[in-house]
Amino acid sequence: MNILLLGSGGRESAFAWKMAQSKHCSQLFIAPGNAGTGAYGKNVHLKPTDFDAIKEFVLKNQVGMVVVGPEEPLVKGIHDYFLEDEDLKNIPVIGPKADGAQLEGSKTFSKAFMRRNFIPTGASHSFTIHSLNEGLSYLETHKFPVVLKADGLAAGKGVLICQTLEEAQTELVAMLQDAKFGEASSTVVIEEFLTGIELSVFVLTDGHSYKILPEAKDYKRIGEGDTGLNTGGMGSVSPVPFANEEFMKKVEDRIIQPTIYGLKADQIHYKGFIFIGLMNVGGDPYVIEYNVRMGDPETESVLPRIESDFVELLLGVAKENLTEKELKISPKTAATVMLVASGYPGEYLKGKVISGISNIRSSYVFHAGTALDNDEVKTDGGRVLAITSVQDNLFNAVQQAVTDAGRIYWDGKYFRTDIGFDLF
Ligand code: AMP
Ligand code: GLY
Repeated sequence: MNILLLGSGGRESAFAWKMAQSKHCSQLFIAPGNAGTGAYGKNVHLKPTDFDAIKEFVLKNQVGMVVVGPEEPLVKGIHDYFLEDEDLKNIPVIGPKADGAQLEGSKTFSKAFMRRNFIPTGASHSFTIHSLNEGLSYLETHKFPVVLKADGLAAGKGVLICQTLEEAQTELVAMLQDAKFGEASSTVVIEEFLTGIELSVFVLTDGHSYKILPEAKDYKRIGEGDTGLNTGGMGSVSPVPFANEEFMKKVEDRIIQPTIYGLKADQIHYKGFIFIGLMNVGGDPYVIEYNVRMGDPETESVLPRIESDFVELLLGVAKENLTEKELKISPKTAATVMLVASGYPGEYLKGKVISGISNIRSSYVFHAGTALDNDEVKTDGGRVLAITSVQDNLFNAVQQAVTDAGRIYWDGKYFRTDIGFDLF
């Protein structure tokens, strides 16, 4: 079967690496991919949101399955587009339709979904420009810190944690009145701040049954000790020691099952990944957010621990017989260190020549923001390379990934050396 994978980040590199190993995969296409994905298949110049161009490509190249990496095409309805087209409707798309993608595309939707289904999450209220004054008064009665979230997709930047009333009121005005995050902040969710440790849980579902993929912890801040600005993610580890059997049972009983049930109750036939970002608050899981895709850089730690044929699992989603498929998970630990461009997550330069990739000893190198330029691999984004090592324990995995990260060079390379240290 020919498979088309949409996306270009480290997540898609890990997907491409894993899918290319499948007995079901004859030709893999990655659109648009990066300088690394060409090693697993063929990069094609297509925008993941250009559905008409994707249609043409899929039909011309006998693509038998489309796997969607990022959320944007899903929220924009790529799966619906396929189902509504006579020529495409029998080609499975892995990822929810626009109705299910609202779990990520609208925080107001996802909060209401959780409330309806008694899924534990922080208390919250939504406000628009028409209820700005109510929002400002609501903040006066709130505890601090408080969390302000743009309702829509804001490229991971739409969440603000405000320490004081003044700051929160200023930001609320900026979001609702001055469109700080554009259309995405035309509705704002004001949410209770939860104190605890975060965990990323991944579920694959065919709309009937589900499988829980390996969990991971993501390190979001730019600086050592998890300080400084928020990024897309600076590293990840899997498994996560506190996500033991007892904790994961709570996650399954209180969050995963009610989520799958709630989707069915809403007649949302969801086929794809559900990424549950949660907070462990004193031993109890609370949902911070849903995403309708896999995490990045979590995927780079999660997929190397999956021993089963990944495309076989995706076929289980497509054919709605996931329950018959085997998910075998390695007991080893994976650690991912993200190499980023100096200045990231603020402004940074692109086009720096990367050297030393072939010096890596015992890690995988998953390309993220890279591009080929006259046969040279150059930086082409803020997050540039993900280095993943899989070892017998967390300490060795982190140690190896950090050591290998040090073997790569470009002008302005930066990475965190403390990934996973809070878990030792
Ligand atoms: P998100 O963009 O929804 O992933 O949120 C970004 C980050 O904000 C999360 O990873 C958390 O670290 C933090 N965050 C979001 N909601 C809350 C909350 N209710 N309490 C504490 N931290 C939160
Ligand atoms: N690493 C968090 C995310 O993918 O949203």
